[in-house]
Amino acid sequence: RAQADPLRPAYHFTSPAGWLNDPNGVGQRDGIYHLFYQYNPSGPFHDRIHWGHAVSRDLLHWSDRPIALTPGDGPDAEGCWSGVLVDDGGTPTIVYSGRADGRELPCLAVGSADLDTWVTLEQPIITAPPAEYDITEYRDHCVWRENGHWRQLVGSGIAGRGGTAFLYESEDLRTWTELGPLTVGDAGDVRLDDPEWTGTMWECVDFFRMTRGDDGLTGPPDGTSDDEHLLIFSAWHEGHTLHPLVAVGSYDGQRFVIDRIQRLDLGGRHAYAPQTFRDEAGRRVLWSWMQEGRDDAATAAVGWSGAMTVPRRLWLDDDGVLRSEPVPELTTLRGEQLLPADEVSSGVDLAGVDLDIEFTATIDAGGRVDVVLFATADGAERTVLELRRDGDGLRVKLDRSRSTLSTSCDTSSHAGAVPATDPTARVRILLDRSSVEVFVDGIALTTRVYPTRTDARQISISATGPARLDTARAWRLDDAEQPERVLHP
Ligand code: FRU
Repeated sequence: RAQADPLRPAYHFTSPAGWLNDPNGVGQRDGIYHLFYQYNPSGPFHDRIHWGHAVSRDLLHWSDRPIALTPGDGPDAEGCWSGVLVDDGGTPTIVYSGRADGRELPCLAVGSADLDTWVTLEQPIITAPPAEYDITEYRDHCVWRENGHWRQLVGSGIAGRGGTAFLYESEDLRTWTELGPLTVGDAGDVRLDDPEWTGTMWECVDFFRMTRGDDGLTGPPDGTSDDEHLLIFSAWHEGHTLHPLVAVGSYDGQRFVIDRIQRLDLGGRHAYAPQTFRDEAGRRVLWSWMQEGRDDAATAAVGWSGAMTVPRRLWLDDDGVLRSEPVPELTTLRGEQLLPADEVSSGVDLAGVDLDIEFTATIDAGGRVDVVLFATADGAERTVLELRRDGDGLRVKLDRSRSTLSTSCDTSSHAGAVPATDPTARVRILLDRSSVEVFVDGIALTTRVYPTRTDARQISISATGPARLDTARAWRLDDAEQPERVLHP
């Protein structure tokens, strides 16, 4: 067994071995949460992808189940790519992208009642992408019941026009009628043909409806409803994973008219391929794949790759912005409390690699709050989060340029705007070794950093100029007692 990697997250979900990418088939049945995921058990690289499977009662403590889907000798011979879990009149069913002969097609698998054993159909359920378009890529699924029929979206892109998704209808999940692209080209003022923004294809499409408000209702798309509809997709540009986006607009059962597009996570590719579901309590819960920032050689040396974000609850706020926060269950992992709430105005110091930090700050124009994470005493390694007032909102920057002394890691910075809610900035930071998840007024910024020095544990929060810290609290987070993870099977 290889030496444990001190940078492997402890309370985030990682796969038992090898490689993990997208969350798939996320859902809750009879109280039990299911997380399936893109999985290569044979090594920390993307090849012949299986579907791993884990179950949990609290979204935090997971038990591994047998591998759900394994590439066969038919339409998924080269991999069982991303997809979703649906309930076909009580029968658990997976719709996924089978890869064979260098391309993907929609495939289907039928599960046992406990979701442990799966039988895949020998033929794809859609045998070719729509012929009338010059399609660049075609994979990933969202499947729902609408108006007494099954509906499906398949992520895609049209040459010269950018990303889109094709809409289909079915009575039995096995034969499908194409209803055309959900959106094409320009959508009013919203440009869909900028490849650096909305990509040349949309991966992992996830379409649902939501009403505004903190506990707004959510459900599957419904063309007869006035609710706003949201399409989450991961913008992919000719082989490069850009970032997850969310388009908000109206849907009439055929076409989705996009009103606006926002970034779902300011960390871009480090929070890629999100998938959501409505849980039994009615919440819209999301996981994303926290893609690594180490190069292939460094990843091969540690023997594992990929973690899930913490599960996050989504809500469409009163201002029309989609916000998220860690599910409240996460607070049950809080152990020793490190920071009291008083005497914090100019700054606080603490240390650790697995913390839950919460603070509020008042930042006026010209003021700044800096959060230095994973710093060594001499400052040779440190990751810096900077918050500034920018008009009504905040400007957030996460500087990774000195986050590691290693030369095999991504040290690019992240930045973005946080629309204002009120003058107080509410910040939550979850640290788990190489994982950093920041929430500023409900806007997420997820990233990965790989400090090399064992003393890179210092953390400080400081306010300069017309800014002050109002409250600050922090806890050590206990490991989620995940089942044992091996580095080489
Ligand atoms: C997104 C993605 C999907 C695909 C899967 C393959 O990260 O590329 O489009 O189905 O991963 O593992």
